[in-house]
Amino acid sequence: MKAQEVFLAILTDLIRSVQAAALYPETHHRVQEPLASLLRRVRNEAKRLGGSLTVGFFGDRIVVDQFPFHESTPGIGRLAGRMASRGIEKVAIGEAVTLPEMKRFVYFVAGVGETDGARQWKEISFGRIRGDEPAEFPASAAGVALPAPQVLAGATDVLKDVLRSIAVKGPLGNVEEGRDIVAAVMKGLREEEFLIDRMVRLQARDDYTVAHSLNVCVMVVAQAAGLDLPEAVVRDIGLAALLHDIGKELVPAEILNKPGKLDSGEFAKISLHPVLGATHLRKISLGSDLPVIVCYEHHIRHDRSGYPTPRFPDVPHPASLMTQIADVYDALRTYRPYRTSLDRETAVGILRKGRGTEFEPVFLDRFLRMIS
Ligand SMILES: [Fe+2]
Ligand SMILES: [Fe+2]
Repeated sequence: MKAQEVFLAILTDLIRSVQAAALYPETHHRVQEPLASLLRRVRNEAKRLGGSLTVGFFGDRIVVDQFPFHESTPGIGRLAGRMASRGIEKVAIGEAVTLPEMKRFVYFVAGVGETDGARQWKEISFGRIRGDEPAEFPASAAGVALPAPQVLAGATDVLKDVLRSIAVKGPLGNVEEGRDIVAAVMKGLREEEFLIDRMVRLQARDDYTVAHSLNVCVMVVAQAAGLDLPEAVVRDIGLAALLHDIGKELVPAEILNKPGKLDSGEFAKISLHPVLGATHLRKISLGSDLPVIVCYEHHIRHDRSGYPTPRFPDVPHPASLMTQIADVYDALRTYRPYRTSLDRETAVGILRKGRGTEFEPVFLDRFLRMIS
């Protein structure tokens, strides 16, 4: 492997470790695997370079040793942004770095680490390179005030795998990771005051359905959490919201990402996603019927128009009605290849127009209060 390839592998390990740390406890294999790989590679390279490996962060550019990596992947862009928000322009890691110290650094960068000011860094030093700030952080970098915990920062990457694996492998798919994401959403709503606002601006550059599913999950959990339901029920509703568009994994990507209007044949194919998804989820043991119900009903409107045409006289399930509202709101607020994103006022105006017809009025009023 050439040095540059090794450096890219180190960056990739760091990105994966930080993303996983934002979502999982340190005992989880999704954290342990990339972390072990990161430690091994960093130690080797530090040794080869005379005892320490230096990484610089300059805007959207990351420089490892002397090799620059531009924002060539969303992961590198996000890592650079994260370092900038922590005021980190340079990190130097010694060859004797231990697993606990590397782990502590990764959790610090992820924004969910300990903030115990008494702890010192032995083999890792980091801080600014120039400017008014001291060259290195004071004795304990972990003691500085951190931005709000970014508990969901890694969720889209994990969710991408979860949706694929559930859609493709069916019963073998890892539903537990979906549950972990819902637990992180619930934790995030308790800890991050502006979570809903921040989530709705989350736009995955490469996978709309992933970012959209997470946004909808956050907004539905927030609605359900205000209903005095047992926590386990809120969790089931959250999982249902997270999986509501799983049927889209079974629709050809060219149709999903087509810029411009869909023809009637394409629209018919997309309109099958609730039925495709529900049929698929029915085969999987999820411990709750809600994901199947919400998946099937989330495009049925309060006045029973929409699709698929309901076969029974009952009104959609409350979890479906809440998901439907969040679903439309997120779609309006997000940039799509065929139209730009709408600002909050315009999106709210469109929702208001559908009060009592497209949207269940009591849930809609609660939702609008929640996002205002
Ligand atoms: Fe949908
Ligand atoms: Fe959706």
